[in-house]
Amino acid sequence: MVSDGPKLGIIGFGEVGYHMARGLKGEGLGWVVAFNNGNRNRPPYSDAFREYAAGIGVVLTATVEELVRGSDIVLSTVVPTAALETAREASPYLTSAHLFVDLNSCSPEAKEQGRDLVLTRGTRYVDGAIMDRPVSDEHRACIFASGEGAEAFHDAMAGSGMNIRVISGRVGDAALLKMIYSIIAKGMQALLLESFETLYRAGLDPGVYDGLNNMVSQSGLLERAGPIIAHTATHAGRRAGEMEFVGDTLLRLGVEPTMAMATAKRLTWCAGLDLPQHFPNGLPSNYKAVFEVVNKLVGEGQPRN
Ligand SMILES: NC(=O)c1ccc[n+]([C@@H]2O[C@H](COP(=O)([O-])OP(=O)(O)OC[C@H]3O[C@@H](n4cnc5c(N)ncnc54)[C@H](OP(=O)(O)O)[C@@H]3O)[C@@H](O)[C@H]2O)c1
Repeated sequence: MVSDGPKLGIIGFGEVGYHMARGLKGEGLGWVVAFNNGNRNRPPYSDAFREYAAGIGVVLTATVEELVRGSDIVLSTVVPTAALETAREASPYLTSAHLFVDLNSCSPEAKEQGRDLVLTRGTRYVDGAIMDRPVSDEHRACIFASGEGAEAFHDAMAGSGMNIRVISGRVGDAALLKMIYSIIAKGMQALLLESFETLYRAGLDPGVYDGLNNMVSQSGLLERAGPIIAHTATHAGRRAGEMEFVGDTLLRLGVEPTMAMATAKRLTWCAGLDLPQHFPNGLPSNYKAVFEVVNKLVGEGQPRN
């Protein structure tokens, strides 16, 4: 619990802003203000929006200036496309005493540009990546933090219940990890969409599909990434061919095989590198050794994808 704690200003009072604020107020954080300037809610706010904020003890400010001047830590929780604009709007009022924490899911390059903007004011910048869902986890949602302000952000919020994991001092690292996570998480979502649509169209019940159940529950995907990559690289050509059949089958059932063909494309590329010939004693189960060779081959002119 933080009694008093740092003064927090939240720019963008949507799902993340509201739920983070609600959790932190529940922990006893004394000062939480918010500013919202979107398509639906903007100053002067509606009575309903003011009451929505007041209901959890949050005061809405009329301007960014008022929010920044009254805060120690500024959280940016707008939308990714507005992240840079938000840093630009806040920067004239920032000082070296502030921490500016950009929690928007932007690219590493966008975070670097945001850092450059606030750095002109001597402000420490935090590249923050929300890894859970604040709508259910509130302020306890895991946040990866990198950049020059990451340690200070972690320390300032100690005792608040926030789950801040400092990744590095380099802006962009947290954003990149979020993107890598999205490749897996959103890739899985897209895979489920495509595979279950196919089951549905074929008139099969997923309940009869024990193989899928076993694979998902026992996959230990990350722990086994090395062996899986090595095995995939060895059998990429055959698997790409199988995925072409999968694509044809889906089309026959009226399902657009977006994920299946993306998988086929990735495997075909991998097969074209002929990785096994670079490992006469068998592919290593260490993924780094595999990608060192891939990197070398791409450097020698093999296609990148
Ligand atoms: N939701 C999640 O679980 C989650 C997880 C990881 C990362 N994130 C990231 O967190 C950020 C916020 O997500 P969210 O789910 O809270 O989105 P959201 O519900 O759409 O909330 C964004 C809020 O920002 C306001 N806004 C938009 N542009 C603004 C601007 N220029 N200045 C001030 N306020 C502005 C919007 O106002 P209007 O509604 O009036 O347009 C809205 O209230 C996003 O960048 C997202 O990528 C979210």
